[in-house]
Amino acid sequence: MQDRKAHIVILTGAGISAESGLGTFRDIGGLWSRYDWRDLATPEGFTRDPAFVLEFYNWRRANVRKVAPNAAHHALARLARDWPGRVTLVTQNVDDLHERAGSPEVIHMHGTHLTALCAACAHRWPAPDEMAPTDTCPVCNRTATRPDVVWFGETPYHLGRIARALESADVFVSIGTSGTVYPAAGFAADAKDAGAETLELNLEPSRNAGLFDRARHGPATEVVPAWVESLIAAP
Ligand code: APR
Repeated sequence: MQDRKAHIVILTGAGISAESGLGTFRDIGGLWSRYDWRDLATPEGFTRDPAFVLEFYNWRRANVRKVAPNAAHHALARLARDWPGRVTLVTQNVDDLHERAGSPEVIHMHGTHLTALCAACAHRWPAPDEMAPTDTCPVCNRTATRPDVVWFGETPYHLGRIARALESADVFVSIGTSGTVYPAAGFAADAKDAGAETLELNLEPSRNAGLFDRARHGPATEVVPAWVESLIAAP
């Protein structure tokens, strides 16, 4: 039985949004099996062909608007609402399905493609449906706009806040991530070093499955609601 004052830190990846209809990256048919990440998810790729990169994120942003949160997103929103202890939700995803399911506070360590960023003055604003290389920043008026997402080779957002959460975690839960991209893939070890119990909820064992004390493998829409129910309903 879990101590009901426990601080639960959750990391989610593309797998939690898969059953909503959004593609993952490394599964069969995943985005990086169809596109080269060097062209679409690096600063160099953006410099080489900004129109192509912006078109990719316009397409992904349009897809997010067409889909809905699934039972796994809703289960995490329920946990945030009903768990008496602290819940910290960190996501690698750039979609807004956690927010739309009702999670009150979501730490987007890889950014969000619902926001545009000015590379010149760091201003952020709601991304238009169609971003183009000729767009100008509404504040400094320079044509230096880009998606507010973290590309390979760039530093993820909120790392200090995440590190502090992991230091005080009693339970660390990894959901729908392959455990291949750092620093997120190292969070389980960080939490373990801080004395947390670690749990993996994933379709199949991830690359760092060996770091987890417990695991429930299956579709997120099944294993995540079952896990939340087991916590909330426990005496
Ligand atoms: N339910 C649960 N897990 C699932 C489901 C599902 N329905 N479908 C797939 N998965 C699991 C896969 O087994 C895999 O372990 O989700 C994981 C998806 O892994 P990736 O495609 O590598 O996605 P992710 O781990 O989020 O990638 C991390 O890489 O490209 C960068 O910035 C990008 O944030 C992303 C990061």
